[in-house]
Amino acid sequence: MEVVVAHSDVTEIEVDVLVVNLFEGVTNPGGATGAVDSALGGLISELISDGEITGSTNELTLIHTPNSVYPSFKPARVLVAGLGSRESFDTDGIRRVSASVIRKLRSARVKHAATIVHGIGIGSIEVVSGSQAMVEGALLGAYRFLKYRTTDKNRKADVATLTIVEGDSSKIATIKTGVERAIAYSQAEILARDLVNEPANKLSPADLATVAQKVAADNGLSCIVLEEADVTKLGMGAYVGVSQGGPRPLKFIHVTYEGDVARPENNLWLIGKGITFDSGGISIKPGAGMGKMKGDMGGGASVIGAIQAISQLKPKLNVHVVCAATDNMPGGSAQRPGDVVTAMNGMTIEIDNTDAEGRLTLADAIGYAKSKDAVRIVDVATLTGAARVALGDGVSPVFGNDDDLVDAVLETSEIVGESMWRMPLDSVTKRQNASKIADLKNTGGRGGGSTTAAHFIADFAGKTPWVHIDVAATSMLDSTRGWMPAGATGVPTRSLIELAMKFGR
Ligand code: BES
Ligand code: MN
Ligand code: ZN
Repeated sequence: MEVVVAHSDVTEIEVDVLVVNLFEGVTNPGGATGAVDSALGGLISELISDGEITGSTNELTLIHTPNSVYPSFKPARVLVAGLGSRESFDTDGIRRVSASVIRKLRSARVKHAATIVHGIGIGSIEVVSGSQAMVEGALLGAYRFLKYRTTDKNRKADVATLTIVEGDSSKIATIKTGVERAIAYSQAEILARDLVNEPANKLSPADLATVAQKVAADNGLSCIVLEEADVTKLGMGAYVGVSQGGPRPLKFIHVTYEGDVARPENNLWLIGKGITFDSGGISIKPGAGMGKMKGDMGGGASVIGAIQAISQLKPKLNVHVVCAATDNMPGGSAQRPGDVVTAMNGMTIEIDNTDAEGRLTLADAIGYAKSKDAVRIVDVATLTGAARVALGDGVSPVFGNDDDLVDAVLETSEIVGESMWRMPLDSVTKRQNASKIADLKNTGGRGGGSTTAAHFIADFAGKTPWVHIDVAATSMLDSTRGWMPAGATGVPTRSLIELAMKFGR
């Protein structure tokens, strides 16, 4: 779908469908909707007084406005989108409406559509963020993963062009800025979704490294890929232990964006869990639902997506992306429960359960970041089933050792509409990771599963400001929700981009 911005009167734009809107309770529409209403001889107000259009959330009303009947009105049809209550409308509302509109247009086989930016007339929403949310909603809401569907030929094609129409010339430049940002943010999130949706037989650690190298090459970034021998030499025994049960070689991916060359210490390290398939290893998972573990590199996908957008938006900050990619398989050479491994920082870990592999790979990824003088670390991981138990699939639990960094992550996640909630790192739960024979064990027993996992990682972050986002429940959905489709959501890619933009302002 191509997105363009046009300075035009809404009644004069030649498209298949023009999208306008209505807040709940409005009987006499103003603004662009009012202009359309007047051009149509009061048709919209009539439908409102008839009770057919109410402006409630999710209400979409398609009105046919043929040229033979309305010669001075160019759009062939008008879609009135209900926005719900004016008081509670925000950029999430814009993304949500925009997503359902774009799917409605597709199902009506519309090729060329135009839309006003919902909500920027009411004052509480800035033009730039409103426009960004509009286009994100459309691009993310239209997303489908179709590459392996070869037989359903009657599938409806995507909308070809979406024109953002605005009559006030003073707003055009700002809208264009919002649209540009939306495209970078959305393409990054779509890349993350594509990687998560990709089956494990099509996406090995080596394939993930190839994608990272391509993102780097296309955007002027440097990319280092370390092999098993390299990471073994660096002492990453925790990471290597996870990979040794399967035949596909591990790939340790490090991509760098240099936005502040003069100050290497002005950095942000984004570390993504990169398990390309998590069978559980010797502590093998039950069969039901195991296929979802193709998405266990969702953290890695989101950091690779994020650095693509970051390189395009160019914040004044150095961003490092790390993904310790590997499968977790139960082969004859797999690590066993009871094994002890030594991480890069010298700490020993008793492997209590080989299915708690994510924290092992993160421990060494963090060890690497610290060895390169990371000053801020944010890790993203599909880490624990307990995340869903704690908060469901609408909110990602967040942990951290630094209030400012935690607040920055929460603030940016709120801006982009990716809900997160801070959880405590209490000293009682921490004791659950104690091992009888090593410094730590990789499971924390019953209770607080997301917290014990976070405590484990915290021990490797040490004093470096660090935040951990557990996206086990939010990275994939069972059914479509607003701008997030069933399957991979791409969460929290846009939060990470926003975070880099905040630090690099
Ligand atoms: N990748 C899983 C966590 C997960 C579960 C992600 C469900 C998405 C959906 C992780 O490696 C894992 O297996 N965690 C275990 C930890 C346990 C063995 C301590 C879990 O959550 O059960
Ligand atoms: Mn696991
Ligand atoms: Zn896992």
